[in-house]
Amino acid sequence: MISLFLRFIKIKILHARNALRAPSGKTPKIVITGGLGFIFSHVTEYFVAKGWDVVVIDNLSEGSCPEIIDGSFVHYRHHMADPEVVGIMLKENPDYVIHASSVTDVDYSIREPYRTMRKNVLSTLHVFEACRNLPNLKKLIYVSTDEVYGECEHKMHEGEIMLPRNPYSCAKATGSLIRVAYENTYPTLKDKTAETRFCNVFGERQDTRKIMPIIKRAIETGKPVPVFDEGGSYREYIHIDNIPPVVDLILENGRGVYNVTLNDGYTVANLIKKVEQVTGKKIPTTKSHRPGIDMKYQMDSARIRELGWKPLYTFEEGLKKYLG
Ligand SMILES: NC(=O)c1ccc[n+]([C@@H]2O[C@H](COP(=O)([O-])OP(=O)(O)OC[C@H]3O[C@@H](n4cnc5c(N)ncnc54)[C@H](O)[C@@H]3O)[C@@H](O)[C@H]2O)c1
Repeated sequence: MISLFLRFIKIKILHARNALRAPSGKTPKIVITGGLGFIFSHVTEYFVAKGWDVVVIDNLSEGSCPEIIDGSFVHYRHHMADPEVVGIMLKENPDYVIHASSVTDVDYSIREPYRTMRKNVLSTLHVFEACRNLPNLKKLIYVSTDEVYGECEHKMHEGEIMLPRNPYSCAKATGSLIRVAYENTYPTLKDKTAETRFCNVFGERQDTRKIMPIIKRAIETGKPVPVFDEGGSYREYIHIDNIPPVVDLILENGRGVYNVTLNDGYTVANLIKKVEQVTGKKIPTTKSHRPGIDMKYQMDSARIRELGWKPLYTFEEGLKKYLG
């Protein structure tokens, strides 16, 4: 009863804030696919707090955080690979769209390449099919990943060729090509699309099968961290609280592709050492193997910094925040 009352008050406050922030007219409306997942649940909350009308399409599959559903945004429980979502998006008629829903589990994509491709590629096609027919669309962001570059011998910049090397990253790279093809072909999308390529994001609500939550669990319970291929795989990491503002910046002013990274990179073995140093605790590990693993992802971040991005947290600050 008390929680229902608090939720009612929260919605009233949000609506009052809406009225204050959009005195001259229409409140911006945004559709976020996958807006209940680890990263985009934070983005959903960010735009709700900003006073926007937020519509989330999310089928509550793996990685989703339904606990954020509180009536402050509209939620459609739909599979993005179902063509019906095109009609939903047209009916909602948003000003902005972020397409973030995706199968994100690389191990699943290796076991189930056909399902992964079908789900992710069809979902992306439906978003672009809707967006090319949206009369009010100001910006569409397609959410992608550093993994589209494949093995990175140097810091990859956005114009370099994509060479994805597992089914997950192949599906994400296919989405990047769909973005280019649609923007180039349909005048209604001209200059209206952007794409983010995030490095490894970590923080509150992350899927417990990912490396940072596994390390956190090892600290809390002593359960060992499975380390693939001698712990030599190198990744760049960024704390979740840096993400909503950078998405907002790109929505406002961005065009084309943006790598999003702090350039704080570690091999898994060095990441574990870093966490041991920050926490003063020893982390148990076991050896493991993943087929087709890329050993290094690293990206150039000049383009997003030129857009004016100022990250809120360094890697180390984010790590301390996450590990408490
Ligand atoms: N986590 C990272 O470090 C990282 C790095 C780079 C890029 N990305 C990208 O960011 C996005 C979000 O990643 P995440 O880690 O938060 O993912 P996540 O797995 O935590 O969340 C994905 C969300 O999408 C929903 N979803 C999945 N398939 C769907 C479908 N077919 N229809 C409707 N909803 C569906 C799920 O229910 C879930 O809520 C993804 O596009 C991912 O590729 C993530």
